[in-house]
Amino acid sequence: MRRAGLAVVAAAALAAGPPLAAQPGCPPGVLASGGPPPRGAVSDDVLWADFARWSRGLPRLEGNASVDLGRCFVRRLLSAGIDSGDASRRFRRVLDLRSRTIERERLFWDTRFRLGGGPRDPLPLLVDAVAAMRPGTALDAGMGLGRNAIHLASRGWRVTGYDFSREAIAGAQAAARQRGVAITAVTSTHEAFDHGANQWDLIVVSYTAIGPLDAAWPAKLSTALKPGGLLVYQGAARLGTTSAEVRRHWAPLAMLRLDVFPAGEDWLEGGDEPTVKFVAQKPRGGR
Ligand SMILES: C[S@@+](CC[C@H](N)C(=O)[O-])C[C@H]1O[C@@H](n2cnc3c(N)ncnc32)[C@H](O)[C@@H]1O
Repeated sequence: MRRAGLAVVAAAALAAGPPLAAQPGCPPGVLASGGPPPRGAVSDDVLWADFARWSRGLPRLEGNASVDLGRCFVRRLLSAGIDSGDASRRFRRVLDLRSRTIERERLFWDTRFRLGGGPRDPLPLLVDAVAAMRPGTALDAGMGLGRNAIHLASRGWRVTGYDFSREAIAGAQAAARQRGVAITAVTSTHEAFDHGANQWDLIVVSYTAIGPLDAAWPAKLSTALKPGGLLVYQGAARLGTTSAEVRRHWAPLAMLRLDVFPAGEDWLEGGDEPTVKFVAQKPRGGR
């Protein structure tokens, strides 16, 4: 199963970052979590069990504090005396293993959100797209900590956001309370969520596991939109993806704006996978 761009989020940060010795410290509770890591050659099962133990013991960072998952996982191994080559290899292996099952993928995201998550400002693409719109019903698919959902709610939209990470849902609810806005937050996978029919004036898909060329989604999301409703999409694509392919793939919707940039942005800043951004509308006569 392809998780467009998401696997590289942490890998890019690890590869692009300064040398480990120069990186800002991870809090002691993060380094100590999970107890001593296993030594020597470790099997995939032992490695994943160690990652899971580390993740489940992590303190949730408060407020806007955020540390990099990959760097802290590696630093924990270094501080236990594991050499840097082996530590980096173990983390790359974790990135590979995480996408093998939905439970692992969920645990990976729970871990990221325990450690503070990603960008906090709403996507400029979304902010621009809704600036002149009358608020209605909105769905945020894979909303994470709810930066986009909360922006919409603060402008009067009735927003439902879902995510499979319980940490994300708890974080989004807390952030909405803090901003004094109401959102409906649902714990669900993309696959299990009932997107409905003719239900939403706006759907937001922002850097989640719905790739710009993944099958099924154009039909599902265009059915879910009300006639005249908008889909605002931003995320990573495979290298070489063209705007013509994206336009063809989302043919049930009318493209109002479409850009394919050659490099990563936002969650994927520093990565080299292209960024796809579009705003598309369900035809007014559409069903
Ligand atoms: C890169 S974050 C983006 C979060 C948010 N949309 C944003 O732009 O800040 C990816 C999000 O997708 C969620 N996610 C990944 N796979 C999912 C799935 N199969 N079902 C539901 N949510 C998923 C993760 O938990 C995470 O919150």
